[in-house]
Amino acid sequence: MRVVLRFICAALILSPVWCESPDADGTPYGDFVRFGNVLDSVMDKCNVQVQYNCSAACRIGVEIVISTPRRTGVTVYRRTWTNHKRFGKPRSRTVHLVFPPAVLYRRDFFVRRPLETCNVVLRAWMVHLFENEIGGNHDKGYDQSLVRTSTSLRTLPLSERPAYPQTSSVSWGAWLMWQLTKDTVRKCPHESDIVDILTFPFASTGERFGVIHTFSSFRNRDLEWRRTLAFKQPRMTLSVWLYLLSWCSQSLCGIVKHVNENRNYGSPLIMLSDTGDIVVQVQMLDGEEKAFTAHAALPLHTWIRLDIFFQVSEAKLTITKILPGEMTLETNHFFDFRQPVQFNDTSGYFVIGGCSYLQGFHGYIGPIRYYRLGSKNVTNPLSPIRMLKELDRLHRHCEEMRHVTEDYLQALRQNRDVSRDVCESYYGGLKRKFGHRECAQTWSWDQQRRFNLTLRLLEEHQELIKGLGHSRRHLVRLGRVIFQDAVKTISKAEESDGGLDLMSSVIEQLQVSSCWGHQHSSLLLATLLLAGLGVPVDLEQGHVYSLIGAVSDDRLALMHLGYKHMQGLDGFPKDQNTAYGYYANIGKQTSLDRDKVQDSWQTLTEHVHLNNDDELHTQTGELGDIVQYLKHQADRGDVESQKSLARMLLWGSNGVEKDIRAAVMWYARSALQMVDPSAMYDYAILLLKGTGVKKNRTLGLELLKKAADMGSVEALNGLGWYYSNIVKDGRKAFRYFELAAQNGSRDGLFNVGVYHLNGDNPDKPDSNETAAFHYFLDAAQLGHVDGAVQSALFLSTGSIKGVPRDPDKAVLLLKQVSEMNGHLGFMVKDALQTYQRGSCC
Ligand SMILES: *[C@@H]1O[C@H](CO)[C@@H](O)[C@H](O)[C@H]1NC(C)=O
Ligand SMILES: *[C@@H]1O[C@H](CO)[C@@H](O)[C@H](O)[C@H]1NC(C)=O
Ligand SMILES: *[C@@H]1O[C@H](CO)[C@@H](O)[C@H](O)[C@H]1NC(C)=O
Ligand SMILES: *[C@@H]1O[C@H](CO)[C@@H](O)[C@H](O)[C@H]1NC(C)=O
Ligand SMILES: *[C@@H]1O[C@H](CO)[C@@H](O)[C@H](O)[C@H]1NC(C)=O
Ligand SMILES: *[C@@H]1O[C@H](CO)[C@@H](O)[C@H](O)[C@H]1NC(C)=O
Ligand SMILES: *[C@@H]1O[C@H](CO)[C@@H](O)[C@H](O)[C@H]1NC(C)=O
Repeated sequence: MRVVLRFICAALILSPVWCESPDADGTPYGDFVRFGNVLDSVMDKCNVQVQYNCSAACRIGVEIVISTPRRTGVTVYRRTWTNHKRFGKPRSRTVHLVFPPAVLYRRDFFVRRPLETCNVVLRAWMVHLFENEIGGNHDKGYDQSLVRTSTSLRTLPLSERPAYPQTSSVSWGAWLMWQLTKDTVRKCPHESDIVDILTFPFASTGERFGVIHTFSSFRNRDLEWRRTLAFKQPRMTLSVWLYLLSWCSQSLCGIVKHVNENRNYGSPLIMLSDTGDIVVQVQMLDGEEKAFTAHAALPLHTWIRLDIFFQVSEAKLTITKILPGEMTLETNHFFDFRQPVQFNDTSGYFVIGGCSYLQGFHGYIGPIRYYRLGSKNVTNPLSPIRMLKELDRLHRHCEEMRHVTEDYLQALRQNRDVSRDVCESYYGGLKRKFGHRECAQTWSWDQQRRFNLTLRLLEEHQELIKGLGHSRRHLVRLGRVIFQDAVKTISKAEESDGGLDLMSSVIEQLQVSSCWGHQHSSLLLATLLLAGLGVPVDLEQGHVYSLIGAVSDDRLALMHLGYKHMQGLDGFPKDQNTAYGYYANIGKQTSLDRDKVQDSWQTLTEHVHLNNDDELHTQTGELGDIVQYLKHQADRGDVESQKSLARMLLWGSNGVEKDIRAAVMWYARSALQMVDPSAMYDYAILLLKGTGVKKNRTLGLELLKKAADMGSVEALNGLGWYYSNIVKDGRKAFRYFELAAQNGSRDGLFNVGVYHLNGDNPDKPDSNETAAFHYFLDAAQLGHVDGAVQSALFLSTGSIKGVPRDPDKAVLLLKQVSEMNGHLGFMVKDALQTYQRGSCC
């Protein structure tokens, strides 16, 4: 007995476009082929009606083509017939389709190798036959067809398929063998023309960092055929959610841009202007660029969806705003470019937000859905909706809280009476009546209720506020005080019994501090809520505070989000592209931070470093004793101690007061003993730059050369720097950088990379990005921050020859160097680590 199976299946989602079959409509002579009945899933035993009309002798074919994870375009069924009579009359034929059991049933004893299908396409085609072909030649098929049609069928995933209907019994031994040898089957990457570029919003800080995405050709031949067809008749749709915290701070900011393989802007380039308008630029088929502006004046603090649909030369931009109270407002903007727009999404890469060419805007971007083959009907819901609404609510709430706070501060400055008890009381009324100090009741009762805690905290810290003055960041500083109080309370909560009550008040305080712009509070909130430290786990709120911290460009918050997306933890979708967006930012900041620490006497382009990071990091702790001991040793001529002391004085680290002159004195003493090449190198750099000492290039160079002779690779690199920046001899400089690189200097490796990138070496004046990349990568693997930032950029775009895109590796590289950021650990140490140690394991 066999069962007829009916499947209702959601395994394969294809866009509605799929069914429109652009070229199926027929020829001017009236030829067509189409399906008479609608089939939508794979099923055992079914009939399809093929309707056709031949204007001349023809052959008609019906085929089932499947794609599996291993192979695409495998024809598993074909039926053909010819027609050389009665031309010009529509005809119809019913074809009985037979699907192989491997696509119908689950894996079992009878169906040993079921096929996990990525795609099942039923198609019909027609070719005209010439006189000599009738009856003979059967070569012509789908690819040569005059008219064709296709429809895709849904299949069930392996686990949901029925078992093969058993018809015979099986020997016990064979069954056992089967049980022992069966193994897992490979999974099928589902291929669709609808791509969710972002499923979770990306916090865009308004800088030059964004999410990079690339597309490859469809593996499915039918989809790919439709895509290449679109080169002549372009069609695509992009749907992007935005939440703006401000309009562009320059004339234009990037929202989505396509950078093509020639590093030019391809289509589309969607930007936000400084007046909140949307500018859309495209490249025409002849290479010319055209743009239009949609005067939208997009509102701030509102979720907005931009749907842009291109068809040949026309563009339609639909802007949907979510107004308070679930209302939506939709506006349409149309534009005709008068010529076909050029689209090729496999060329180059796409950037969401900012990139090195164009800054991003300040706010959130995503979810983003892209219809590679275009669609008039966009479904791209705001998701996860509750979290995003909460994010919106919190931003509005904080905005209001900042107003209330500013009012309060203003009143305090003008010496008005801000005490609520007095002003709200009977006596307050009397006082007002009798012309005492004016009351500062500018906020409503509702506000007083909602910002009760805020006002109370302000009251508590009146003295502090008076001391703050008019500084621009007074709110943040206020926030820091609240944060510090909260952290103290956390450590108390650990010990006391009433921990939970204490923790809930901590959360409230941190919320106020976060609104005031102290982002460590946002991050601490996120961490407490995501991990459920002392409070119930609340992923939604945790996500909201993670995003709020990151959008304000807080290093730790960026790193936190990068890590969560990299690993896919705590409900954050695993997505290396998003992780890269965050890590690229923190990586760049790490590089800048390091230069800041070195106090403006090292600039970004001069990759010579005095410091030894490891030593710096290990020497935190019991300061006084160490310093005393070092002084003692240094006085007695110990080079190591002299160097350490000099370094501390130069940096003002380890609690030592910064004193460049004293530092130079110790550097000189250690170097001029001519025994320690690294001391000589350090002092040489000071002499060359004239930092804290009179510039003396002769002596500086001499020391560098001696140090290099004594085996210092840093000195080799230093010589390169000397010839590059002071003597401007590119050839000689390159030789020294190369020597340093060969001897394992990461700065040397990086500098050789820069020379290859810029073509600075007169012997090789052409830029060689591939070579540069490999040097940057080698430097990065030795921990070079800028090397990691550069090589990760190349890896994430995959835009240079011979370097395939590898976002995973890009993220890893950046993560490693980001963790060297000096800002890390400072707060984590105080607040989180103790707490986590207590509550984990
Ligand atoms: C079928 O083809 C003939 C010419 O070959 C044409 O005149 C006729 O309109 C076509 N029928 C349909 C329904 O398209
Ligand atoms: C589209 O881009 C790919 C990758 O850069 C390229 O190989 C292809 O030739 C391009 N197609 C067209 C029609 O420009
Ligand atoms: C758009 O697509 C959705 C879901 O696929 C469908 O329910 C809706 O009817 C479509 N709308 C139009 C106008 O085609
Ligand atoms: C503010 O909170 C305090 C206690 O925290 C409460 O006594 C007071 O009634 C609240 N005020 C308003 C206006 O809600
Ligand atoms: C540089 O140092 C050398 C050696 O100490 C000294 O002889 C020379 O005068 C110095 N030159 C300058 C310009 O200070
Ligand atoms: C650096 O390496 C090169 C060859 O790799 C070698 O010839 C040279 O002596 C080395 N220099 C130093 C200072 O180690
Ligand atoms: C660029 O460098 C790579 C790797 O070092 C090398 O294979 C390639 O030949 C170089 N290209 C040119 C144009 O010099």
